[in-house]
Amino acid sequence: MKILVTGGLGFIGSHTVVELQNEGYEVVIIDDCSNSSEAVLDGITAITGKTPIFEKIDLKEKGDVVDFFKRHQDIQGVIHFAASKAVGESVEKPLLYYENNIGTLVYILKELSNKDNANFIFSSSCTVYGQADEMPITENAPVKVAESPYGNTKQMGEEIIADTCKVTKHLHAIALRYFNPMGAHPSVEIGELPTGVPQNLVPFITQTGVGMREELSVYGDDYPTADGTAVRDYIYVVDLAKAHVIALKRLIDGKNAANYEVFNVGTGTGSSVLEVIQSFEKVSEKKLNYKIVARRAGDITEAYADTTKANTVLGWKSEYTLDQAMKSAWDWEKKIRKKS
Ligand code: WQD
Repeated sequence: MKILVTGGLGFIGSHTVVELQNEGYEVVIIDDCSNSSEAVLDGITAITGKTPIFEKIDLKEKGDVVDFFKRHQDIQGVIHFAASKAVGESVEKPLLYYENNIGTLVYILKELSNKDNANFIFSSSCTVYGQADEMPITENAPVKVAESPYGNTKQMGEEIIADTCKVTKHLHAIALRYFNPMGAHPSVEIGELPTGVPQNLVPFITQTGVGMREELSVYGDDYPTADGTAVRDYIYVVDLAKAHVIALKRLIDGKNAANYEVFNVGTGTGSSVLEVIQSFEKVSEKKLNYKIVARRAGDITEAYADTTKANTVLGWKSEYTLDQAMKSAWDWEKKIRKKS
């Protein structure tokens, strides 16, 4: 069974390709390599023993998208990761984000609408909830006004899919709202490769641990949380990848309750920035240089998932602890910086 993974050379995409191949699916990757490298294919091959088909396509080129689906009429499902994801950059370059994240989604949905039966998994985000009023966050929590064009593309993306599913009954879609993905494959053949200075907490911590950064700035210790630092739900990337395969299988097997569904993908446990630092210090046996600075603009106090729907309806549950996920992130960082 052939599955298209757009953005399949990226962080979450590559881990999902591995899980798909492990389950016996044939994978075709589309990636424009704008924020990824073709070398990731070697990592995937080293883990699974199989090299996925790879086509370097810019999904903004509508003609190329049409041509791709003409050449691959036997695609049974699409997992759509390809998108720009830097929150700050999206504020500076909103049209880039709307073109990259919305334009390409529309082109793919158009092609899928032409098929007799189509299965589609969308990378959404807990960012759609903003600062939710209640913790943990269920899928019924209201979608709040987006803080950034990036966040808006996830909200709009969900709406575009929902509107399309309303009139295209043979299109079956699931949006997965990820909390904070982290970690690397246990084989350390693939992992996160942030470009430039990492904006996300975990890669900043591991780069500081390995000596690439002098110290971590902890953004605020005056939040109304147990230790004053902000709380997030850190989900191990392999657990997250498995959620995609389970969601896709749900659609392929016709087990979905409606032709558009939404699931939270998190652990259900909130961890503060200081707890994440402690986890790093425990698994690395190193002290981390850090200082407390002012809050970062746009940050929320806390976000962690109610995973009941994913656990009971989807039949997926996260397996890795924060420490295990952190260990993989640390092993990966040491490997790519060639330190032990
Ligand atoms: C986590 C915590 C920071 C860096 C991002 C995206 C969001 C969603 C999830 C996908 C926060 C603190 C961070 C640092 C710090 N992704 N921090 N020092 O902000 O929860 O959300 O990922 O759609 O859209 O914005 O993740 O990793 O940036 O931050 O103290 O150098 O770590 O303040 O509390 P965030 P993050």
